[in-house]
Amino acid sequence: MSRIVLVSNRVADLSKASQAGGVAVAIADTLRARKGLWLGWNGRIGDRSEELNAKPALAEFDGTTVATLALSSREHDDYYTGYSNNVLWPVFHSRLDIAQFEAGYYQRYLDVNKRFAQALRPLLKPDDIIWVHDYHMIPLGMELRALGVTNPIGFFLHIPVPPAQTFLAIPEHRELARGLASYDLIGLQTKVDVGNLIDYLQDGVFGRILQDGRIRAFDRELSIASFPVGIDVDSFIGSRPKRGREAPTATTRLLGVDRLDYTKGLPQKFRAFGRFLEKYPDYRRKVILSQIAPPTRETMVAYTDIKHELETLSGSINGRYGELDWVPIQYIHRATPRKMLVDVYRNSRVGFVTPLRDGMNLVAKEYVAAQDPGDPGVLILSRFAGAAEQMKEALIVNPYDVEEMAKSIKVALEMGLTERQERHQALLDSVRSNSTYDWCRSFLNALESVGRRSTLAI
Ligand code: G6P
Repeated sequence: MSRIVLVSNRVADLSKASQAGGVAVAIADTLRARKGLWLGWNGRIGDRSEELNAKPALAEFDGTTVATLALSSREHDDYYTGYSNNVLWPVFHSRLDIAQFEAGYYQRYLDVNKRFAQALRPLLKPDDIIWVHDYHMIPLGMELRALGVTNPIGFFLHIPVPPAQTFLAIPEHRELARGLASYDLIGLQTKVDVGNLIDYLQDGVFGRILQDGRIRAFDRELSIASFPVGIDVDSFIGSRPKRGREAPTATTRLLGVDRLDYTKGLPQKFRAFGRFLEKYPDYRRKVILSQIAPPTRETMVAYTDIKHELETLSGSINGRYGELDWVPIQYIHRATPRKMLVDVYRNSRVGFVTPLRDGMNLVAKEYVAAQDPGDPGVLILSRFAGAAEQMKEALIVNPYDVEEMAKSIKVALEMGLTERQERHQALLDSVRSNSTYDWCRSFLNALESVGRRSTLAI
């Protein structure tokens, strides 16, 4: 079996991977089983001398080699904050209005990818298969090819692909497309993403669909398919401490867990909850919305703006409807330990997951996994989360339609036991049928078979 070489901007701390999110655990397990290598940023911001450094620090953990590099502060500003998070992140989430197309960002983004490729080159073995992750690393495959690497290289994008017209607005879209075309396999979260990328490659850079379904672009042939990320139900539930269910209380909880990101639709969610309290006054004092929103990318203006907006909104809704013994919105701007989350999910009558756009959204899956099948809660899910493609038995809502969301809260709270059980069983079956391990396995199998095909063609 070939060794797996993984490249991503962030590298999970393998000694703590079991406490981290599902994807990190599955990747860590896969790497361990295949004696893998993982290259990424070490999380440190150093000085200019880092820019000349193509020799990563190497560490071994349980059979996996972890190779890391530091970024200089201007690399961090232009590659990570600038191009990755102020251009690609907003545009890929269809927020052209806040993208900052600044000169210099793209060049440094490319330079960092080049440096990572140079760092990886001497560590590669002829039989390795290389798996590159996410939008920070789009040009990495192209840079490896330029250094003569002929191994199979796959790319998985964790975030959505925007419609072709939006993609075309990126000044460097052709360069990005050339980077994408250097992979043998591109994995995306949903079928919608696959359709969007193929449309863009056809409209934007004259890509052609071949008879076998692969795409020809920039004189290369590549496969594009969806590989939805999942969770491992048993290990997620298993992480909870042995405690019974909380005794029923007078208030019923709606729960949201989202990084505090403008893509997550948090102001719309708060407004919908406010509208629900206005429209259905009988529910006042009986229901709370607990929103856990850990901080993220805090130095960026778009993130401080959304933080202020939420603080104002939660304050105004709490001020308007709150009572001395009841505060309608519990807004927690901190991370919650994963092992506590299972109980919080289980004791929440409604999982309220309403991003404006999201690659997949594993919170929706974790919420379903954590429910008591005998008396499960109801998932309200945005139609614009990748997860909605698989989780059709949730209450699917349009996160821009505050009125519809307010009504869906009432529907969720009043849903009878039989309907809740039926919907939950169907959702749980679909979550179980697609674990993170299945995701890893199916992507790597597809990449290996693409690799075999290109070897035969030589
Ligand atoms: C999303 C991206 C990941 C990223 C994570 C946290 O899930 O797809 O690649 O690591 O957000 O963001 P950060 O900027 O802190 O790495």
